[in-house]
Order: sequence, then structure tokens, then C-alpha cells
Amino acid sequence: MTETTKQTRTITDAEMAQQRAYTEQIAAWNRLYAEEHGSPRRCYVQTFGCQQNEADSERLAGMAEAMGYAAAVSADDADLILINTCAVREHAEERALSITGQFKHLKEKKPELIIGICGCMVSQETRKERIKHSYPYVSFLFGTSMLYRMPEILYRYLHEHKRQFFLDAGDAGNIAEGIPVRRVSDKQAWVSIMYGCNNFCTYCIVPYVRGRERSRRPELILEEIRGLIAEGYREFTLLGQNVNSYGRDLEDDIDFPDLLGQICALEGDFKVHFMTSHPKDASRKLIDVMAANEKAAKHFHLPLQSGSDRVLTAMNRRYTIAQYLDILTYMREKMPDITVTSDIIVGFPTETEAEFEETLDAVRAARCDQLFTFIYSPRTGTPAAGMEQLPDDVKGARMTRLLAVQNEIMLEKNRACIGREYRILVEGVSRGDKSMYAGRTEGGKLVHFPADEALSLTGRVVNVKITAAETYNLWAELI
Ligand code: SAH
Ligand code: SF4
Ligand code: F3S
Repeated sequence: MTETTKQTRTITDAEMAQQRAYTEQIAAWNRLYAEEHGSPRRCYVQTFGCQQNEADSERLAGMAEAMGYAAAVSADDADLILINTCAVREHAEERALSITGQFKHLKEKKPELIIGICGCMVSQETRKERIKHSYPYVSFLFGTSMLYRMPEILYRYLHEHKRQFFLDAGDAGNIAEGIPVRRVSDKQAWVSIMYGCNNFCTYCIVPYVRGRERSRRPELILEEIRGLIAEGYREFTLLGQNVNSYGRDLEDDIDFPDLLGQICALEGDFKVHFMTSHPKDASRKLIDVMAANEKAAKHFHLPLQSGSDRVLTAMNRRYTIAQYLDILTYMREKMPDITVTSDIIVGFPTETEAEFEETLDAVRAARCDQLFTFIYSPRTGTPAAGMEQLPDDVKGARMTRLLAVQNEIMLEKNRACIGREYRILVEGVSRGDKSMYAGRTEGGKLVHFPADEALSLTGRVVNVKITAAETYNLWAELI
């Protein structure tokens, strides 16, 4: 048994039943309120951070709905506000705290308003203490492993008239199945396949706030997706911090490529994406499974972080730039149409000018379709925060240079799409121009095309031919 297996705890049916009992009690109170007032209480969920948090927010909204809260259009119109926070960079934390500050006046106007904060930020001791003391109007805090206990936390707050703090240390974890979900889209669905991270990249806070890696049972994942297909969902994104580690903590003999193959074998017209894949574990087997399955979306997000082997080692990434480029070459051989995206951090502590230039060279060699670029942000408690830091102006200037290199590559790559045909999922009518729709290719490229609003194409899959290209946008016609 691995370390992960020992630490993983599946929340028992009895514990989930207890949460349903709290849910029922609150639902009963909310029914009375709705009868007396002629309208229901409402809940607003504010989300920061990655897709994992988006998925968690859909669970928060699902639990709130089961407790009798209708969805609020905005925070102003809510009786319960839940702020789902991110801790990955300082900016994300500042935004969450600033919005919490802005909600103070809502609480003053409506004293019975309940504000709760959850997510990755509150799992850090220093942030927890800060919110506890500086934001006294916040009614409760709970960490990522406590999500399934939201009904109990709310019940205790209402019943005991006392602020509640349900925080986990973040070093262990559990898996809760059967939490109600209210999905934002009726076509695209997040499907968490695992939680936590064991990689401890030296810049990253995630392993500290999300706990150790733990995989959901494959049959439960398949059952969830089967149900979603029956409901008409067309796009699935399998979520995990490193999906390549899927199954390592399970006793079953299953790895991520096996799971992906089993999902693609389900009946129905759909596409499967996944996020994120760590280059140290991205195997040829995974690429072979993708290439062999039409239902596997031809998109690979493979975060590089740096183009310097010395910096990669300092980041504890455990691959070299040569290994990274090898995977890309194999992937493109097997799937010539694959869209590749990546993440880069500029200004990691101790990064020299020459090492940054190696990143520029790597970006030119990788020729990704899109890069998500981040200025390094020190995270308290991580090893890199204790290393010698670079000045902000150096970090900023490197970011500008990186963007210029990538923009040139994107424009070239987008121009090469002219004349090609793509299957796109239509996101909606363009805000500025009602005669245009916008949608995304399997690889996430944004495509605009003219079509009558009356055709109601939103949420549908259409085929288009690209007619023009810019750095961030493609233009097309329906075929
Ligand atoms: N598990 C995913 C990434 C999760 S965080 C993976 O390993 O790829 C998403 C991205 O945020 C990371 O890929 C990294 O590029 C960036 N990031 C993480 N910590 C950061 C920090 N302290 N400063 C700046 N960017 C960071
Ligand atoms: Fe963070 Fe690294 Fe884990 Fe990704 S793999 S979540 S970057 S520690
Ligand atoms: Fe942020 Fe937590 Fe995701 S720190 S990036 S919301 S896992």
C-alpha cells in the first residue's frame, strides 16, 4: 500500500446521510421563509482559481439548492454568499480579500446575510487568522476537505449563533461521493477524478492546501459520466492536479490512460478533455490512447514552467527540457492536429538572464498554441519563498519579452489554420455583434463566425472553415 492509500479516507454513507439530515432541516426552515415572504432565500457563489475550484463551486451551489436556496443573480440579491478562494498567487488572494471587504456593506444593510469563505486560501493558518480577526462579519470558514460538511457548518452557525471554523491541516484528505451538484452548463461538465497533489514543486502552495493525492473509484467516475451523457452533456473535462498519477493510490490495476480509454469507450457523441498532465509522468501510453480514440479531445495542456534545466531542478519539476520536447515530438507525430498549451513562470528566484533566455528558446522550440504566463509570486511556507528573490522590474520586463515571443508564434500558427475545417462548440452570440457567434475548437481556440441569431446555435456543435486569423482570434464561416 502506498502512503496515499493510508491517508485517504472515503467519507462513509452514514456521514453523508448526516449531512443530508442537516440539509433537510435547513430546507424546512427555508420553505417556511419562502411561504412567509412569497420568495425564496437566495445563494450567491463567488469563485476564484482553477477548474478544480469551478467544480467545487458547482458542488457548493448544489448543496445550497438542496437546502432550499434559489440561485442569486448577484451578491446584492443574496441571503447566503459563499466565497471560494484560490491561493496560487498573491493576486488571487488579494482579490478574494478585497471582495470580502466589499461585501461588508451588504451585511450592514442586511444583518441576517450570511457570508462564508472556503477554498484554498483559508487552509493556510496565517490567512485563516487574518480573516478571523479582520473580517468579523464573515460567519464561517471551511477548508477544501470540509466542503461536504457545508450543510452542517451552516446549520451550526444558524443554531448556535456562533462563527464556525472548520479547517483542515491540508496534509491529509478525504473523498466524498454523492455531494449534490448544480452545473453551470448543460453541455460541458467538470469531472473530478482525483484530488490533491504529491509533487511539491518548490514554488507551489497547492499540495499544502489541497492535501495528498487521492483517486476516485473508476466505476463511480464512469457512472457519473454515463449519467451526464444521458442528460445530453457533450464535453467532459477530467480534473486533477496531475491526472497522470491517477490510480496509483488505488488497489485496482488501473492508470490514467486505462481510465481515459474506458471513458472513450462509453456510448454517445462526446469529447473528453483532461487537465493537468505533469510532463514527468506524461507517458507514450497516454498519447497512444488519445491518438486511438476519436472521443479524446486533441488538446494537451503540458505545463513547462521553465526552459532551463537548472531552474527546473530548483523548481523540483523532475524532467529536463529535452525530455519535455521529446514528449511534444511524439505527440505531434501521433496526432498532427493536436493543440498544445502550456504554463510558464517568469522570475523564479535565482533565474538568471541567460536562464530566462533558455526559456525563450524553449518556447520557440515548443511552438505551443497558447501559453498561460505567470510572474512568480512567493507563497509563504513553500521552499522557493525562502530563496533569493528577483526585483519586480526584472520579473515584469521578462514577462513582456516572453509575451512578445509567444504572440509571434500564435499569429503564425493561427494564420496556418486559414482554409482548415474545425468542429467547434458554440459558446454564444457575440456581445458586440448579434450577427456573429463565438465558439471554441477542441483545442480551445476562439473562433468567430457569422450566423443568424435566430438559428439558436448556442451550445451546439458546428463545423466551420477558417477564413482569417489574428493572434488571439480566428474568423470562420459555417460549412
Ligand atoms: N497542477 C498543475 C498546476 C496548478 S497551478 C500543474 O502542475 O501543472 C497552475 C499554474 O500556476 C502552474 O502551472 C504554474 O505555472 C502557476 N503557478 C503555481 N504557483 C505559482 C507561483 N507561486 N507563482 C506564479 N505562478 C505559479
Ligand atoms: Fe503545484 Fe506542482 Fe502539484 Fe502542479 S504538480 S499542483 S505545480 S505542486
Ligand atoms: Fe488556486 Fe487552489 Fe486551484 S490554489 S489554482 S484554486 S487548487
